[in-house]
Amino acid sequence: MAAFDFKAWRNACQNRAELALDQWLPTARIHPTHLHEAMRYAVLGGGKRVRPLLVYAAGSTLGVDRVALDGPACAVELIHAYSLVHDDLPAMDDDDLRRGKPTCHKAFDEATAILAGDALQALAFYILAHDPAIQTNAAARLQMIETLTLASGSRGMVGGQAIDLAAVGATLTLPELEDMHIHKTGALIRASVALGALSHPDIDQDIFHRVDHYARCIGLAFQIRDDILDIESDTATLGKTQGADIARDKPTYPSLLGMTEAKQRASSLYQEALDCLSPLGTRAEPLREIAAYIVERAN
Ligand code: IPE
Ligand code: IPE
Ligand code: MG
Ligand code: MG
Ligand code: MG
Repeated sequence: MAAFDFKAWRNACQNRAELALDQWLPTARIHPTHLHEAMRYAVLGGGKRVRPLLVYAAGSTLGVDRVALDGPACAVELIHAYSLVHDDLPAMDDDDLRRGKPTCHKAFDEATAILAGDALQALAFYILAHDPAIQTNAAARLQMIETLTLASGSRGMVGGQAIDLAAVGATLTLPELEDMHIHKTGALIRASVALGALSHPDIDQDIFHRVDHYARCIGLAFQIRDDILDIESDTATLGKTQGADIARDKPTYPSLLGMTEAKQRASSLYQEALDCLSPLGTRAEPLREIAAYIVERAN
């Protein structure tokens, strides 16, 4: 059998997600036009789309048709995009650059950025509730909504953001730092895989637990890599300001453990993620490749 072409697969999924997002987002001609323009600005034409890729990869590992995965892929990307818009606000990380462009509050204004984030979040849940292409029964659809709600809220991403803001200038223990990362970044990554898996009408519990464990490992590894890149990369490659964590005195993996140990931790999480997938055969190849991409990526 021919080797799996991850780049081609990734491009195809990214294009699919871009098209679906474009279709779900209200056009900028619809009233209130300024808000819709800001929502489209924050979502379209940028980003690695790692969370949609995970939805497509988890779904395709289980044999789910891509058409059924477009909605869940968009839903989680919209939550992520909203989290970035709010993360960049002056009250939070106060960043000027995102995905190689001025941040939403710089391109528009703060109030519009706050509202755009709010509306992106609402749109995500509308898609999960409404999308006719989602093929599961009503109970599974409800479980998808519950999964994304929990991952987004105070026990997931938003909780992690609160922990992050409270930790500025503090020295955290390793369990405290991991707890912050698991919430602020890990929760949505984990939800992405869960949404892909739940798109199967009759998911096997053992497989679900395996991909869920995989997702927890790569979710943490993703933020460790983000912390590493903040030090080792450059602004042009990142599309966001390099050195922002140090400038803001944020506790990170490299600041707590040193660079070598931070990299070792990311690579051992990668191994653990692969081990979870070992009985799943070649259909799990996209999940394996995404795990590698997450720990090796340059932006
Ligand atoms: C950045 O996420 C914020 C974190 C959770 C670390 P990504 O690195 O996925 O950002 P985009 O979507 O590619 O811009
Ligand atoms: C952001 O973490 C996580 C969320 C947006 C939920 P960071 O603050 O490290 O993300 P970047 O580095 O600004 O992308
Ligand atoms: Mg932040
Ligand atoms: Mg930030
Ligand atoms: Mg960061």
